Amino acid sequence: MAKRVQSFACQNCGAVYARWQGRCDACGSWSTVAEEAAVAPLPGGISAARGKKGRIFELEGLVGEAPEAPRVPSGIEELDRVTGGGFVPGSVILLGGDPGIGKSTLLMQASAALALMGERVVYISGEEATGQVRLRADRLGLAKAPVELAAETNVEDIIATLSKGPAPSLVIIDSIQTMWSEGVESAPGTVTQVRGSAQALIRYAKTSGASVILVGHVTKDGQIAGPRVVEHMVDAVASFEGDGAHHFRILRAAKNRFGPTDEIGVFEMTGLGLKQVPNPSALFLEGRDTTSAGTAVFAGMEGTRPMLLEFQALVAPSSLGTPRRAVVGWDPSRLSMVIAVLEAHGGLKLGQHDVYLNVAGGLKVNEPAADLAAAAALVSSFSGQALPADRVFMGEIGLTGALRPIGQIAARLKESAKLGFASAVIPRAGLEAVGKTSLDTHAMGDVADLVAAILSGARRVKQA
Ligand code: TYD
Ligand code: MG
Repeated sequence: MAKRVQSFACQNCGAVYARWQGRCDACGSWSTVAEEAAVAPLPGGISAARGKKGRIFELEGLVGEAPEAPRVPSGIEELDRVTGGGFVPGSVILLGGDPGIGKSTLLMQASAALALMGERVVYISGEEATGQVRLRADRLGLAKAPVELAAETNVEDIIATLSKGPAPSLVIIDSIQTMWSEGVESAPGTVTQVRGSAQALIRYAKTSGASVILVGHVTKDGQIAGPRVVEHMVDAVASFEGDGAHHFRILRAAKNRFGPTDEIGVFEMTGLGLKQVPNPSALFLEGRDTTSAGTAVFAGMEGTRPMLLEFQALVAPSSLGTPRRAVVGWDPSRLSMVIAVLEAHGGLKLGQHDVYLNVAGGLKVNEPAADLAAAAALVSSFSGQALPADRVFMGEIGLTGALRPIGQIAARLKESAKLGFASAVIPRAGLEAVGKTSLDTHAMGDVADLVAAILSGARRVKQA
């Protein structure tokens, strides 16, 4: 038995210290460092190998076989898109998200879908009694799916139970924070327990070939609490996002050893569980006000999927010495930059104006290609001139005011045409990538062109 050493670990990020301190040096949070028994060696771990000579293994070259990872698709397309085509046997996924966002609902739907296809699926709930889980399945109309269910929290018991019979295709652990392992002398929910339990479950996945999903709760600041220490141990980290004000939920991969990380899955929470949204653009543009000034549609991309979104701007004279700038769903420093460029190269005087920018629907955009749509919304609000309802905008703005080329422009135009848009404002640079399109394209060189185009529209209306 290893000597028992006391140590202190940050409950937020897992950093370990020799003595107590008020603030964690690693993550900067206060009062999160707590005393814990040092990580006990796991059964069958390094200590078991003590005294034993190492085994000699074969080294291989880079040239050789690289078999495609086999997949178990869930049949839920939006989920399979994020995993990269299905669950990989022996892999572990950490699914994070705010409490109440719908993680258990999503996983119950995925479990039932697999079970109905004849795969063995085990759902371990550490938070809810089996009755509650059954009630949810009933509400989802999935009560008949042959999912094997248990409410357990002890990792050794769980692994022993799972090892009986054929290895399941999918095991759900809801959630990793409720799990505890006897090999770890710490209270459940502590970083040490989470790490120890995760280690045991990951080893189980690798040896049995079962695909395991660990649910992890997220703290206020968006970090997966405790399980942050698990992030580097698992094969994929996905997060389930959304907010209380909207019904749609987004599944996003932050790390994926077996697939892409820029794909998203879009779902809508309904009274009957999560519904897939195969055409998110239509959802995000739903209820759009097409007659007011200050809105512009952006043809964006999420991974390989085009996604149309509405940018809304409000530019109003300010009563404050320092005008207010607020932005929801976009990068505030990007907004400052676009405002500065519009002032310097577009001749707009925004210094005495409050500026608000919002991406409708609650989605977060982080593509530079959105600059042009944001600028168009700002100019439109400033001039009071509504933009044509059937026009989309896409393009990155440089500090010189020039519009820079963007990627995947053909796919963006195709999606816009599909949704009934008739014209697009795009950068003149990179025009050759456009190809054939049914849209009327307005290629512009810089922001001055954009400002002139919108203002001339305003003048025409006034003259008429
Ligand atoms: P849940 O999956 O329990 O969230 P999590 O596991 O992430 O904490 O979902 C919780 C919310 O979803 C709850 O507020 C009720 C709502 N919900 C629906 O709107 N429709 C449904 O069919 C289900 C099952 C839940
Ligand atoms: Mg839950």
